[in-house]
Amino acid sequence: MVAPVKKICCIGAGYVGGPTCAVIALKCPQIEVTIVDLNKARIDAWNSPDYQLPIYEPGLLEVVRQARGRNLFFSTDVDAAIEAADLIFVSVNTPTKKSGVGAGYAADLAYVESATRRIADVATRSKIVVEKSTVPCRTAESMRTILEANSKPNCRFDILSNPEFLAEGTAIDDLFAPDRVLIGSLQTPEGVAACEALASVYANWVPRERILTVGLWSSELSKLAANAMLAQRISSINSLSALCENTGANVEELAHAMGRDTRIGPKFLRASVGFGGSCFQKDILNLVYISESVHLPEVAAYWRQVVEMNEYQKHRFAKTVVDTLFNTITNKTIAVLGFAFKADTGDTRESPAIALVRSFLLESAKVTIYDPKVPHEQIWLDLSETLPDWPIEKIQKSVTIAPSALEAAKKSEAIVIATEWKEFREIDWKVIYDTMKKPAFVFDGRLILDAPKLREIGFRVKQIGRPEVLA
Ligand code: UDX
Ligand code: UDX
Ligand code: ADP
Repeated sequence: MVAPVKKICCIGAGYVGGPTCAVIALKCPQIEVTIVDLNKARIDAWNSPDYQLPIYEPGLLEVVRQARGRNLFFSTDVDAAIEAADLIFVSVNTPTKKSGVGAGYAADLAYVESATRRIADVATRSKIVVEKSTVPCRTAESMRTILEANSKPNCRFDILSNPEFLAEGTAIDDLFAPDRVLIGSLQTPEGVAACEALASVYANWVPRERILTVGLWSSELSKLAANAMLAQRISSINSLSALCENTGANVEELAHAMGRDTRIGPKFLRASVGFGGSCFQKDILNLVYISESVHLPEVAAYWRQVVEMNEYQKHRFAKTVVDTLFNTITNKTIAVLGFAFKADTGDTRESPAIALVRSFLLESAKVTIYDPKVPHEQIWLDLSETLPDWPIEKIQKSVTIAPSALEAAKKSEAIVIATEWKEFREIDWKVIYDTMKKPAFVFDGRLILDAPKLREIGFRVKQIGRPEVLA
């Protein structure tokens, strides 16, 4: 019989730790959940009396309203929460390494390591430690080594891998009704018992048959593999979108016809200006790095191509804009609608919009940007990072952040749809058309617009994966 988990600590109050543990608290009122972070501003935001939460996620506010102060707490006191907990989730960030061995490919595990060391330093009794961040295979093994080498007598640590599969923008729905919950453990009696303790937490709302238990390493690799397969579908459809534009086929008809084959399935076949987000590129590069480390260069090359195709797609789309605007956009104004990496999030990590704006600025264009959720400071930060040689004053001379799509479009030569925000489908395009320079161009990087209707108004429209160049 496994002792039930009564107190949970989650280290890392970000996009993964925050929503996941808020939902655990909501669904398990008998468990006390404390989410901790070193970033005080982030914790203050989670605790703000008027619920100005640090991340935007549909449905999250309601979950936090119900659970916060009841059995859900946010704190910067990492040590106290570790000490009190029976089970600790490690949900810290794992960016791609920027320097040293594996730079540009390998995951930077510095945050995971420092959180693990903190657990070893502070804990005075046994704990279950759950790896939740996406990490390379065998990270759990390193965590175990650190914990065992630094633990106090009578303190045992069981390590589990429990990767999170939520997608931003649908995180709460994904957490309420996950396709599966995956838990990996060592196949020892203690490992299996720890696995059962965590499975019992999820069993409060997830049907047992959806809780999969596997070996530690299969669990770790499954997360990288799932993201690589999803990204691979997007790069595949995007490669076909280029072929469609040059032949006369329509990528949506293609996706529909392919998706009807139940072996292929209809999801994740939306052609786009490219995938973004904190996971896909990072996880694939990680897979590439691991493959190379174990001397499998063909495997590495196969997966690297998924990222290369994504780079190509972003570049190709930017080039289409320049080519269509009579081969120059110098001093022309391009309105970029959407800056987040997908709709329903304010997150811009690896957003294709960043690459697009960068290309336009390097072609000496003026750019106006509108996004309903991304904070302005974030846009300036992203542009500074992508153009390190440009002082911020130079960037701000060429870029304006607009308060609405209409304002962004005013006096522009072209509109570029970079994110599939629902409100862009509902814009009054006639009003926009009247404010723009003529000929007025629209480049739909997300296939969300009714092109015939726009053409009727007078727009020249180019959509990803559609053969009609203009007219
Ligand atoms: C295929 C398509 O499935 C079919 O729709 C098309 O009309 C013709 O091509 P076929 O080649 O007859 O049909 O058989 P299929 O079942 O697709 O298998 C093709 C190959 O893939 C076989 O060698 C099979 O062993 C292999 N395969 C299939 C795998 O290795 N793994 C799988 O998961 C599925
Ligand atoms: C992804 C995985 O879906 C999730 O399971 C994992 O836990 C984290 O990584 P996320 O990055 O939040 O989630 O969003 P996702 O919906 O997967 O979209 C990723 C990117 O792919 C976005 O830029 C999106 O616009 C793009 N995309 C998605 C397409 O271009 N076409 C599609 O058909 C689907
Ligand atoms: P993710 O998308 O993986 O959730 P985020 O960057 O949104 O990534 O969140 C990770 C959080 O983890 C950040 O808020 C960061 O401050 C926090 N963090 C990183 N290292 C530690 C640590 N050692 N102790 C506590 N919090 C940490």
